[in-house]
This record gives sequence, structure tokens and C-alpha cells, in this order.
Amino acid sequence: MWVLGIDTSCDDTGVGLVRDGEVVVNLVASQVRLHEAFGGVVPELASREHLKALPLLVERALAEAGLRPKDLDLVAATRGPGLIGALLVGYTFAKGMAFALERPFYAIHHLEGHIAAAWPEGLTPPFLALVASGGHTHLYEVLDLGRYRLLGATRDDAAGEAFDKVARLLGLGFPGGPEVERLAEEAEEAIPFPVPLRGQEGYDFSFSGLKTKALHLVEKGLPKAALAKGFQEAAIAHLAEVVLKAAKDTGHRVLLVAGGVAANRALQERFKEAGLKVYFPPKGLSQDNGAMIALAAWRRYKGGFPPSPLSLGATAYWPLEEA
Ligand code: KG4
Ligand code: ZN
Repeated sequence: MWVLGIDTSCDDTGVGLVRDGEVVVNLVASQVRLHEAFGGVVPELASREHLKALPLLVERALAEAGLRPKDLDLVAATRGPGLIGALLVGYTFAKGMAFALERPFYAIHHLEGHIAAAWPEGLTPPFLALVASGGHTHLYEVLDLGRYRLLGATRDDAAGEAFDKVARLLGLGFPGGPEVERLAEEAEEAIPFPVPLRGQEGYDFSFSGLKTKALHLVEKGLPKAALAKGFQEAAIAHLAEVVLKAAKDTGHRVLLVAGGVAANRALQERFKEAGLKVYFPPKGLSQDNGAMIALAAWRRYKGGFPPSPLSLGATAYWPLEEA
């Protein structure tokens, strides 16, 4: 059974093909260079670029898998959350394909896609899922597919966003996560950063204090590698402390870590030492992509969820608990 998954929620055009739950093709066309000069994603530019890239990417994905469009059994796309103009491109394209091919269509929540990317076959809920990306830092209790309880979220910046901003302060490129990670590896010693929200009641996250601290240290002219290492250590310690507190309080022993930040090796090491059973997405599936959307649709199909009506629109705002 072949599933086509499309994600155009932000500035990456993602097209994936999944066969019986296995990722066969996963193509991502990044718009990073396009938006670079503006210092952030320009929504209208992103939409136009998706329009140009998407048909070509779908054609290429099908060619790589040796498929014709009518070989597809299911079509899925990200319905939200994200930039509405960007979402609409992939979502409408996918609905058009499903209609023309007379195949079921699945409207997928972007974060369910991230979670599906880290969710190994055979693992049954409940478990915890941390989604840490450029736009989200959310901790969920996954009670079942389609049943999520939000335990905590960031009060300010997302984890990936903090990496990106600190990278910029350090004069590094975008996306900042991998750059900060590389620079941190060059440092012998870390400049200590205070770990945010220690001793809090709930399971919230906060990264803006770390960013401000980094700014002050850069202004003082302190060594950049030690600074990068200190920031990274505190960010990871913060994520780990909140998640471990939630694991202790809820009794869950299984954790999925998903989203772009899950690719960070120091973070992976930290969570592996935590005494929980931890799963990360395979290489290439942590950042935004289409295969994760196909994986989520495949799970929904197998789980007996009905396909989505083609009359359902895309939406910029959509809590995962309502997916
Ligand atoms: O999931 P993703 O591709 O897009 C969003 O949905 O936002 O996540 C991108 C974010 C960026 O902020 C990027 O800096 C961060 O993930 N990231 C990392 C690493 N690789 C990507 N952060 C820390 N360490 C990394 N190795
Ligand atoms: Zn994402």
C-alpha cells in the first residue's frame, strides 16, 4: 500500500512516499537561501516557492519509486498548523490528486506527523512525546493515535528558535541548531548558563532567558565555542529536566523525541542516559518532511480512522488535542 505525504507548512516543501509503513522516498526542497536576506520566513514568498517546487518534487518522488500516480493508494497532506498560504499549496494540491485519482485523502496535523516519524512499528501507547522544533516546544501524553494531552509548552521561544537566534548572535548560519552544535564540539569548557524554570510546578519550557544571557556574553566578548557549549548544555538540561519530571509524575517510561531539535547528538546522548525507553526519528525524518505526514496517514488508515472530507479546509491554528 503506497501513501503519498505532502508538507508545506512553513519554508520546506516536503514530499514523501511510504510503502506499508516504510519510508521509500523522502524529498525536501529547502527555501532557506530564499528567505536568508530577509532574516526570517516571508510568508508570501514561501507560498509562491511551494507552488513552483511542489509539482516537480511530486513527479520526482514518483519517478524515484518507479510509480505512476494511479499506483498511489492514499494521499495525505499537512492541514495545519503553519503559515496558511504555505499550507494551502500542499493541502489543495493533495486534495486535487486524491479527487482525480479517486483515492482516500487524510488531513494530517503537523505535530502528529513529527510524532509519527519517531514512532516505531509495534510500540503501543501510552507514552510521552516531546516535539522540539523551530516553531514548537510541546510535551504531550500520547494516550492513543489521535488522543493527545498537552502537559506543557514553551512560554516564549521554541527550542529550535533559540538555537537559531543564538547562532545568529554568534555570527553563524541558518538553521542555527547544527551550527551551534558544531561550534560547541570545539570547546573544552562550557560557560555555565542557568537552567530555566527550575523548581516549577508544571511542565513548561522557556528559552528567552538563555538567549538574553547569550547576548550579554557575546557583548562581553567571551569565547564563542565555550558560549555555544554552555547554551546548548543548558537548553538540553532544561528539556531533559521538564520531561523527566513529567515521566516521574505520570509514570510513563517511554518517550518519543521529535522535531528538528531531536537531531542534536548531545541531546540524544542526554536522553539516552535518562533511564527511559527513548525513541528518536531516523536520520532525515526529524526536520519537516513529507514522509512523516505519509506515516501519520498510514497509521490513521490502519487504525480505522475515516478519511477526511475534501470539503475540510486548511487551518493556521489547530491544537493537537483536537486532531
Ligand atoms: O522540525 P523543523 O525542521 O521545522 C519546524 O517545524 O520548525 O525544525 C527546525 C529547527 C530549527 O530551529 C533548527 O535550528 C533546529 O530545528 N535544529 C537543531 C538541530 N538541527 C535542527 N537544533 C539543535 N541541534 C540540531 N542539531
Ligand atoms: Zn515541524
